[in-house]
This record gives sequence, structure tokens and C-alpha cells, in this order.
Amino acid sequence: MKAAYITETGEPNVIQFGDLPTPEPGPTQVLVKVGASAVNPIDTYIRSGAVPIATEFPYIVGCDLAGTVQQCGSEVTRFQPGDRVWGSNQSLFGRPGTAAQYAAVDQDWLYPSPDGMSDAVAAAGSLVGITAHLGLFLNANLQAGEILFVNGGTGGVGAAVVQLAKSVGARVIATVGSDEKQALCESWGADLVVNYHSDSMDQQIGDFATENGGIDVWFETQRESTMDRTVELMAKRGRIVLMAGRAARPEFPVGPFYVKDLRMFGFAMFNASPEEQRDSAEAVNAAFNAGTWTPQIGQTFSLAQTSDAHALQEANTLEMAGTLTGKIVVDPSL
Ligand SMILES: NC(=O)c1ccc[n+]([C@@H]2O[C@H](COP(=O)([O-])OP(=O)(O)OC[C@H]3O[C@@H](n4cnc5c(N)ncnc54)[C@H](OP(=O)(O)O)[C@@H]3O)[C@@H](O)[C@H]2O)c1
Repeated sequence: MKAAYITETGEPNVIQFGDLPTPEPGPTQVLVKVGASAVNPIDTYIRSGAVPIATEFPYIVGCDLAGTVQQCGSEVTRFQPGDRVWGSNQSLFGRPGTAAQYAAVDQDWLYPSPDGMSDAVAAAGSLVGITAHLGLFLNANLQAGEILFVNGGTGGVGAAVVQLAKSVGARVIATVGSDEKQALCESWGADLVVNYHSDSMDQQIGDFATENGGIDVWFETQRESTMDRTVELMAKRGRIVLMAGRAARPEFPVGPFYVKDLRMFGFAMFNASPEEQRDSAEAVNAAFNAGTWTPQIGQTFSLAQTSDAHALQEANTLEMAGTLTGKIVVDPSL
């Protein structure tokens, strides 16, 4: 089969495109004909070696996938050939990646694709949808009517946070980097969308938060968090979710934090159990069916262009280029 893989870690151009053996599914695995995979920041950290997960080579890149079941191992009970599925959490902990024509995936990490959800859309929404749901509900226990703040309201995770928070009746404040992204975020029902280039950003967020009793849930997608500012804007008993910035060591306002009875959650989606991830996957499928969750696709690449796809992801997540609206999808049929 054709695959995008590395034989050493490094810059995006270490990704090669070529033939690797088609995997044989183990007893609990499903062989998926990949219709689409998606790119996430974690894929670039693994490829570069910043996160030392790729230790056996050739290593196929990619966490997310969507496609059609080709073959099932002898102990597979959840799926049968012909089913359309999506999933995430691959290329981690010894599991092979998804940027390939086929992937052998344990049934525990796969979910049925709703009718009307293309493989490209399913892949685009997979890791980010599960991440947003885990952060909002398993960790922060977001409730209807609460005020949620998220930076990057049209980013990979941010877009899912905005839409899933609105789907349960929260009021949402989001930041974005352009007028076009502001309009998109507002189209999902965000209550206050502020351009983070604006001099009055803090004033606008502060006014809205104060008028509404403070922010109940702060979902931080930025690698450098602003703890003084965050804690000041929080409501009593608010919850702060941290999920980015492995190297961040921000100053922390202990006094203001505890006198407001605040709580803080950190999480990495890949630590969530298969059951926890399945609960989130079922919820995001339900949101898609209800029309409250539409994963966005920014750019599509062929498998042979996977190194370009990684370069674009890095330019946006690490260098803040702001040139991407929506997820990067890799389509093996191109
Ligand atoms: N812990 C976990 O399980 C987990 C899971 C997924 C991702 N992550 C991490 O979460 C982070 C975000 O991932 P992602 O996939 O959402 O990345 P992404 O798609 O690259 O999104 C980054 C977002 O940051 C926004 N942004 C850039 N500069 C900003 C600024 N000065 N103020 C406010 N927002 C700004 C961008 O807005 P514009 O596009 O409008 O410029 C964009 O929406 C990454 O560090 C990733 O590694 C962690």
C-alpha cells in the first residue's frame, strides 16, 4: 500500500511517500480502507521528535482516520465489512499511523460514521471533537447557561469547543485572528467574538464577563497561557482547562485563584480510556446528526504531499501564521 512515513525524526521533509506492506488485522483489529486522515499538532511534534514517540521505523504518521471496514479480526464484534467508521488515537504507544491507504485499528478506537458525514469531514473532526468534548464535559462539567471562554474559536480544537459548548446552551466568548474567522465563529452562535489583534480585546472580554458574572469555564488552547488575566476574569467556582504548552512555565496568581474557589484541569486526550473516548465520540456524532457540530476543512493534500501538510500545520500552530481556517485533511485517493 502507499503510505506517508518517516525513518528518522526531523523537519517536515523527513516524511517519505512510498510502498509499505498492507497491515494484517489482529484478532481485535479492523482493517480500514482509509478515505481520509487529518493532521493535528501532535503529528508534527512526533515527526519532529519533540514528543519522543516514534522509536520504531518505518513509522507511519497520523492519528486520525475515516474510511470503510475491509476486513475484521476473529474477535471483532462492533463492526463488519462495509461499515463506515472514523477514529483517532493512532500512531501512539506502538499503534501504527493513519496516513496510508489502509490501517489496522483496534475496534476500541473506532466509531460509526453518521450518514451524511463524509470521510473527509469525519477525519477532520475526530481528534479535535473528542478533545473538546473531554475538556468541556469530562473535565470542566460545562452546564447550560454558563459562560465559556476559548482562544482561537475557529482553530482545530477551538472550533469544536465553540460548537459543542453552544450545543448544550452555554454562552460563548471566543477570540479569532481575522474578520472572516469572526464571521464563521459567529455563524456557530458564539455570543462574543473578539479579534485578538484588537487593542480593546481585554476590555471587550472583561466587560462581557463582568456583565454576566464572570467566566465559568476557560478553555485554553494557547501554548503560552496568561494566568493573571485568566484568573481575574473568572467567576467564583470557575474551572480552567489547560491542554497545550508542554514547555510553558507561566507565573501563577495563587491568592486570587484560591479565594475564588477556582479549579484547574489538565488533560491530554490520548490518556483518556477507550470507554471515555467512545462516550465523547458518540456525543460528537449526536451533535453532528443534530446539526450543531460541523467539522471544518481548511486544505486537502494527497498522501504524497503529507510533508507539505505538516509544514502548513506547523506554520499555523507553532508560528501563528493565521493562514488556515479549518483542519488539514490528507486524502489517499488523490
Ligand atoms: N491536550 C490535548 O489532548 C490536545 C489535543 C489537541 C490539541 N492540543 C494542543 O492544543 C493546541 C491547539 O491545537 P489546535 O489543533 O486547535 O491548533 P490550531 O488549529 O493550530 O489552532 C490554533 C489556534 O490558536 C489561535 N491563535 C493564534 N494566535 C493567537 C493569539 N495570539 N490569541 C488567541 N488565539 C490565537 C489561532 O487563531 P487564528 O487561526 O484565528 O489565527 C487558532 O485558532 C496545540 O498546542 C495542540 O498541541 C492538545
